[in-house]
Amino acid sequence: MNTSASLPFRSRGVERVVLGQPTSDGDGVKLTRVLTQPLQQRLDPFLMLDAFGSDAAADYIGGFPDHPHRGFETVTIMLEGRMRHRDSVGNVGLLEPGSVQWMTAGRGIIHSEMPEQEAGRMAGFQLWVNLAAGDKMQPPAYRDIAPAGVPARSTDGGVRIRVIAGASGDVAGALTRPTTEPIVLDIEIPPGKSFDAELPAGHNAFAYVFAGAVDIGDAKPARVEAERMAVLGNEADSSGVRFTAPADLGEPARVLLVAGRPLREPIAQYGPFVMNTTAELQRAVSDFQRGILTS
Ligand code: FE2
Repeated sequence: MNTSASLPFRSRGVERVVLGQPTSDGDGVKLTRVLTQPLQQRLDPFLMLDAFGSDAAADYIGGFPDHPHRGFETVTIMLEGRMRHRDSVGNVGLLEPGSVQWMTAGRGIIHSEMPEQEAGRMAGFQLWVNLAAGDKMQPPAYRDIAPAGVPARSTDGGVRIRVIAGASGDVAGALTRPTTEPIVLDIEIPPGKSFDAELPAGHNAFAYVFAGAVDIGDAKPARVEAERMAVLGNEADSSGVRFTAPADLGEPARVLLVAGRPLREPIAQYGPFVMNTTAELQRAVSDFQRGILTS
């Protein structure tokens, strides 16, 4: 939907296409790291995007046993499968297909995410969103959003949009966050159809294609295949991004669109801790070792 009716929609272009890196995390969970550390400045405020998806229990059965975080937020988007969340604040939640979990680690949290299945497919994403320097030591917070709690809309062309964070058209997302003002949309586009997603010009943005393929842009669209991330340009005169699913595609294209306002602060990361300086990282490690990370 183009709410600025007097101006034509102008799409951002594709600055570069990134193929994720196969890796493992937790207790041997196989995943694809799509947004890696070298892209953290370019895609500020986003620190990491992992995509996981496997039919083989051996790839996920170890789960993510107790581990700490400090200084940022994690967003887990479940597509298939079930995971149990427990944390040091006392929260227990079940991540099921279509659900979203938003956790603000703040000054510190220790949590686990363990599969609640021994067979079948497990698939989804985890996105890390940075916190501003002044917000890093806030108390931890956690929200589980059931599948029905994620607002959705459809266009006349049959495009379906699940609005996880921010807004799409007139539909407010399940979450809004201050400062970084993230927009996270799960978009499904039938073959031959297009969708224009409006984005604030100052937001950094990327799109991860997880089924089919999409053409991104308007004048000279770039084809982006599945399992690839497109870093979107920051053209000052753009109104957002246009996705078109190729007409000859036999299935809908699916895209995760992520955008946020950059913090423009130093990023210091040591594993599960993301602060602004090395001294703050040393403090996080020391607090964890002394058992006072979460106190
Ligand atoms: Fe975690």
